[in-house]
Amino acid sequence: MQKHNILIVDDEKNILKIASMTLKQSGYEVDTAMSSEEAIEKFNHNSFHLIISDLKLPGISGIGLLEYIKSREPDIPVIVITAFGTIENAVEAMKKGAFNYLAKPVNPDELLSLVKEALEKYELRRENITLKSELRQKYSFSNIIGKSPAMQELFDTIVMISKTQSNILIMGESGTGKELVARALHYDSDRAEKPFVTIDCAAIPGEIMESELFGHEKGAFTGAHERKTGLLEHADKGTVFLDEIGELDLNLQKKLLRFLQEKEILKVGGVNRIKLDARIIAATNKELEKEVKARKFREDLFYRLNVVTLKVPPLRERKDDIPLLANHFLEKLNKIEGKMIKGFEDDVMDALIRHDWPGNVRELENVVERAYVLCPNVTINIKYLHPKLINLVQEEREEINRMNLIETEKKLIIKALNNTSWNQSKAAEILGISRKQLRTKMKRHSLLPS
Ligand SMILES: Nc1ncnc2c1ncn2[C@@H]1O[C@H](COP(=O)(O)OP(=O)(O)OP(=O)(O)O)[C@@H](O)[C@H]1O
Ligand SMILES: [Mg+2]
Repeated sequence: MQKHNILIVDDEKNILKIASMTLKQSGYEVDTAMSSEEAIEKFNHNSFHLIISDLKLPGISGIGLLEYIKSREPDIPVIVITAFGTIENAVEAMKKGAFNYLAKPVNPDELLSLVKEALEKYELRRENITLKSELRQKYSFSNIIGKSPAMQELFDTIVMISKTQSNILIMGESGTGKELVARALHYDSDRAEKPFVTIDCAAIPGEIMESELFGHEKGAFTGAHERKTGLLEHADKGTVFLDEIGELDLNLQKKLLRFLQEKEILKVGGVNRIKLDARIIAATNKELEKEVKARKFREDLFYRLNVVTLKVPPLRERKDDIPLLANHFLEKLNKIEGKMIKGFEDDVMDALIRHDWPGNVRELENVVERAYVLCPNVTINIKYLHPKLINLVQEEREEINRMNLIETEKKLIIKALNNTSWNQSKAAEILGISRKQLRTKMKRHSLLPS
């Protein structure tokens, strides 16, 4: 097993001696420094896996040292040592990214168990980073990223049906990736070398839709100076992607149905039917069954299209895809924009996971891009997150701080009590509060019957 290097920083020789002995006996490599300045010097010339530092140091304070380390190597865990009666300092250090704290006098067992925990987490994190590139291969299919069971199932279905000739209906909320799925179906089929033609039924005005789809003959209507090839004909032997099919008007629905049944089209103003072979993949963010019930969508066309239906789940129902997608977009931007942003700070990622993404993957992509453009650092900081997400981070931070504060207080009280054989007056003195205040706090922490 690889040896771990630990740097201990304290201006008290005694503490350095005891701590390094304890750690060396457990097989760790230990180096020591008596000031932040010395620690920074060693930190810059060696590779440490963990730093243990007193908060009260001459010159640059322990908090200053912590900030320095976190700005250089945010992943390296830092354990701080605090004196009695300095709860605020311990909490501040935790806020600034300390892994945890130890109260003086340092208990060797406590020290060892914290060190072990910190190093285990550190190793896991590093493994994750190397695993990431492997995972990416496994969790990507034709540019679609997803590790959630729902997306993995979707990939399997795509493989199963892409080579068939059936029409396919893709349903899903806006921004879930329906067009990506349609492309994947085409490029995984025998038609891959032939055209993939997208027709957005919502974007083309009703009056010209028929001629766009089927083409027209010269002179078919005023302004038809030339013969025009329709989009369906352009897609011969390939695939037609009919996006927002729910927006197609009833008259055209009838004509499309006829094409699906007979594989023939009639141009506007034409007399001869033209044979053509184009596979139809349609998509909608409407619930087409409802449209059918409301008689806005032809039932017969619905059944023709709906031979196979693929449902793309909304992002909020597959939150395990969020980190993967966010990192994917980040890397895409790194390639395009040339910055080298390594990742997201933990609280930013937490907020991305907590948000419920009404705009789905497209919204996530926009949020990442906005942060990317604004962020001057190597990791994306909360400051650059979209304002609607910042609230989520703040809520969570406050909660963590509150929990840390309560935990820290309880531990310090227990320690003071243990050191005074549970003499409340003496413990209160050590903690710098009155006996009455101590008793109130002890009740709150269930250390006294209330
Ligand atoms: N699983 C995914 N992996 C990678 N990128 C994705 C994924 N899903 C969506 N995207 C990206 O998100 C954006 C929106 O996807 P797409 O256009 O396919 O969604 P849509 O469902 O067709 O949306 P709309 O209903 O609004 O047309 C695109 O930039 C797409 O590349
Ligand atoms: Mg789309």
